[in-house]
Amino acid sequence: MKFYITTPIYYVNDIPHIGHAYTTVAADVMARYKRLCGYQVFFLTGTDEHGQKVQQAAEKRGVTPQKHADELHIAFKNLWKKLNISNDDFIRTTEERHKKVVQKALQILFDKKDIYKESYEGWYCLSDERFWMEKDLKEGNCPDCGRKVEYIKEWNYFFRMSNYRDWLIQHIKENPRFIMPESRRNEVLGFLGRPLGDLCISRPKERLSWGIPLPFDENYVTYVWFDALVNYISAIGFEYDKDKFKNWWPSNHHLLGKDILTTHSVYWSTMLKALDLPLPENIFAHGWWTVNGEKMSKSRGNFVNPHELIDKYGVDALRYFLMREVPFGLDGDFSQRALIGRINSDLANDLGNLLSRTLNIIKKFKEGKIPPEIDGKNRSMEQNIQEYFKYDPTLKGFESYAANSFNSFMCKLEFHYALSYIWKIIGDMNEYVQKAAPWAEKDDGILSNTLYTLSEGLRIIAVYIYPFMPETGQEIWNQLGIKERIENCNFKESIKWGGLKDGIEIKIGRQLFPRVEEKMEIGDEVTATVTESAVAAEERQLISIDEFAKVDLRVGEIKQAEKIEKSKKLLKLKVDIGTEERQVVAGIAEHYTPEELIGKKIVLVANLKPAKLMGTESHGMVLAAGGDGRLVLIGFDGEVKLGSKVK
Ligand code: MSP
Repeated sequence: MKFYITTPIYYVNDIPHIGHAYTTVAADVMARYKRLCGYQVFFLTGTDEHGQKVQQAAEKRGVTPQKHADELHIAFKNLWKKLNISNDDFIRTTEERHKKVVQKALQILFDKKDIYKESYEGWYCLSDERFWMEKDLKEGNCPDCGRKVEYIKEWNYFFRMSNYRDWLIQHIKENPRFIMPESRRNEVLGFLGRPLGDLCISRPKERLSWGIPLPFDENYVTYVWFDALVNYISAIGFEYDKDKFKNWWPSNHHLLGKDILTTHSVYWSTMLKALDLPLPENIFAHGWWTVNGEKMSKSRGNFVNPHELIDKYGVDALRYFLMREVPFGLDGDFSQRALIGRINSDLANDLGNLLSRTLNIIKKFKEGKIPPEIDGKNRSMEQNIQEYFKYDPTLKGFESYAANSFNSFMCKLEFHYALSYIWKIIGDMNEYVQKAAPWAEKDDGILSNTLYTLSEGLRIIAVYIYPFMPETGQEIWNQLGIKERIENCNFKESIKWGGLKDGIEIKIGRQLFPRVEEKMEIGDEVTATVTESAVAAEERQLISIDEFAKVDLRVGEIKQAEKIEKSKKLLKLKVDIGTEERQVVAGIAEHYTPEELIGKKIVLVANLKPAKLMGTESHGMVLAAGGDGRLVLIGFDGEVKLGSKVK
């Protein structure tokens, strides 16, 4: 079983932004998933280094295009490393292995007369690097990018693309999965419904020197798109490594943005047909990211740099956000506020808390070891689950129910559904832990079952989320005490219930996702600081402000005080807290005489459950601080009203 997936190769005219990261992360998710499922995977990405855009960018920097590309392609490699992209190859179009294949493909088409020379005139868009007919122009400008066009007349070489139009229409109609999503497929069919011209595949050297020379005419270089598209076959050995090529071609998915769908579905498909090669199984065009509703560009100053986001929020948070926020195929709007929202709710609250709670309870009640599944009273896992999951016993059915739905979402590249499906189970588990309340469970068998259920559920969830968040998936396993690496496991096997061995020692580690505090500033700008999360607080047994607020602290005045018979330490006090007088027993007899207490203002814990001490009822507690054998009552620095709340 083989699986070949590609991203577009990125122009090296600028540094990468989240739009580039988007396709590459999506391809990585698929590649990791398929590897887990036992496929032999080839995941290709790379850089598009020829053509006018790159030549101009190099000129601007005052360096040669080759030097420019040598420097700039590193920016992409670095980002992919930081994003944990698991590509198997990285192709650069300036590499010899690629140039040779482009020339070979050109020669094949030239020899079979699919390439011909003709005089041509028309409106040329420098940015898009293509000719337009006058009727297509929008107010005299390029209909695609809106920039100025130039009128150019010259001899050029053409690929007989028009010859393949009818065949391509039929292929698209017969193969519904060939172009996805469906709306894009219809768009391409609409485009092909109009007359299709031939494709100009050359540029005269005097106008553009930075390209691969045509093998049959040295006065020309290859049109950048003909050059670039060939990367998908040059990287896997077309015409120089027959076995490798046979193993991988045709590809399973070409992932790309909607703006380059025509070049892939029409130019590339017809080129392949002319070369007698089968077509890819699927071309998937995803949508575009805008930023706070606007197109992203450096000139607008809204260029979103993935490095900054990763440094601030972590790589898996960004990967999760990109895959979860917007259905793959639709446009999406990026804002830090939305990213922070996802981190705090889905990642810190739902997933992070679940792991931390589970592990801390195991630490506290089970000496830090995964307990066994069956309790002393033979209460089964199913009974446990059924009790709490009357409506949705998905947890136990992971291996069948969840896996099938998940797999079908993944095969359709419906990443957001796959994730929301898993988060539904995470939600169920949070509900389960709440209802089962293991911290208060007295029956040791039931406690064991509950804790096993939670940790086994988490082990399986880690496998599901691994393709999206490889570090997080592995971290969950590490903290559960599992030594294996997820990437070395088989998906189907590892999601089977019962894989977690009891008795292994858990290893509570870093919090998975620190909560991010959001502070709104001018306009829509968001500054955010990563703070200690609720998860860490729980680990250190910290309490939240809400929990603190549960303690009712009041200002009181001691009205009466007397010794309690037979007690060395205790005094019986009458404390006025404004609305009532309370009888309180305080252990301060060795530090204060009853007389000196009268009239003192103190802090009283007013909502403490009543207790009897040496036979005397106490309705509250007086606060005091101890040290060096001396106990000192807590008082006030100024005037305070009796009964006021101490905060
Ligand atoms: N070099 C060509 C592709 C050749 S593939 C044989 C190219 N390069 S690009 O760098 O301009 O764009 C690469 C990819 O990034 C495209 O799929 C494009 O859709 C995607 N994106 C660029 N900006 C984007 C967004 N703002 N949002 C999402 N994707 C975007 O085209």
